[in-house]
Amino acid sequence: MTILGIETSCDETAAALIEERRGRFRVLKSVVASQIKIHEQYGGVVPEVAARNHLITLLPVIAKTLGKTIPDVIAVTAGPGLVTSLLVGVQTARTLSYIWKRPLVAVNHIEGHVYANFVGENSKFQIPNSNAKNKADANFVGENSKFQIPNSKVRFPAVVLIVSGGHTELVFMKGHGQYELLGRTRDDAAGEAFDKGAKVLGLGYPGGPAIAKAAESGDPKKYDFPRPLLGSGDANFSFSGLKTSLLYRVRDMRAAKVRFTKKTTTDLAASYQQAIVDVLVAKTTHTARERSVRTVLGCGGVMANTLLRQSLNTRLSQQGVYFSVPPINLCTDNAVMIAAAGALKARRKEFTSWNAVDAMSQWEIA
Ligand code: KG4
Ligand code: ZN
Repeated sequence: MTILGIETSCDETAAALIEERRGRFRVLKSVVASQIKIHEQYGGVVPEVAARNHLITLLPVIAKTLGKTIPDVIAVTAGPGLVTSLLVGVQTARTLSYIWKRPLVAVNHIEGHVYANFVGENSKFQIPNSNAKNKADANFVGENSKFQIPNSKVRFPAVVLIVSGGHTELVFMKGHGQYELLGRTRDDAAGEAFDKGAKVLGLGYPGGPAIAKAAESGDPKKYDFPRPLLGSGDANFSFSGLKTSLLYRVRDMRAAKVRFTKKTTTDLAASYQQAIVDVLVAKTTHTARERSVRTVLGCGGVMANTLLRQSLNTRLSQQGVYFSVPPINLCTDNAVMIAAAGALKARRKEFTSWNAVDAMSQWEIA
């Protein structure tokens, strides 16, 4: 079975072709056309501009991905995201499904992020293998499903930390495709905290990579920033106060005529990043302990952050918990993850007919 994944929920136009044959699952092609250069000048994503550029870019991206192949299944991100952006992917997928007479799977973008964890290193991975070679493989059979995925160390139930530009959530994952929301941000997402913080520091867009880069040469202990809701005992987050605290700090320093050297900026970036990471790590380790899980899955664009990856890995392994995280290029938006989540749904025959699928900008997985 070959699956075409299509992703246009925000500012990346992406397509990927993955193949499943006799239990082997591999990525044949993945193309991501980023619009970062276009939105950079506005300091953030402009929905109208994003949709127009998806329109221009998507068909060439799909053509480059497929070559002469007509896939067996089409998987498309139907939500959540910017509705005008989503519509471009959804309408294209509907059209291809109708013309090629191929079944269509509507994929939740966040579930796509989760399934980036099941794409093995170097984009080669195996799924449904009825001849499981060892007992560990048998653990990857989802409930009510013959679907097996070889992330050989993952044990369900697991706790999932989702950190992207629009989402910050802790989810309890009972098995493949089964999610229960444990907590979420009350205001800004972690990615937004990075993006808005970078704006305050004049570091450009997108803010996550910019802050991470500046932080490399900064002192994370130089400035004291709040760790919102750190000890609240639940799985909820709040990042808007942290962002405001950075804004006020910079404003006060400017008012006091502090000279902003490169060192000032890198120290502020490092201290600010440390505050975000501390909260994410504390909440995740707390939730993993409370739920007595043996696996934590991390996903979403902010998971590309090296400090966050390393800190979670260290803290969770001290707790005896396995931390699974996708390779960095599969943390930020891509279509491999959409095709992977789509493969699970296709195996379960969870298709939507071409004339019924629609963009759902607020679609929640739990
Ligand atoms: O998942 P994603 O690519 O798109 C959404 O679904 O939102 O996440 C984008 C977010 C942005 O806020 C971006 O600043 C953040 O991920 N991000 C990072 C890093 N790379 C991307 N945040 C921190 N450190 C990074 N290295
Ligand atoms: Zn995303």
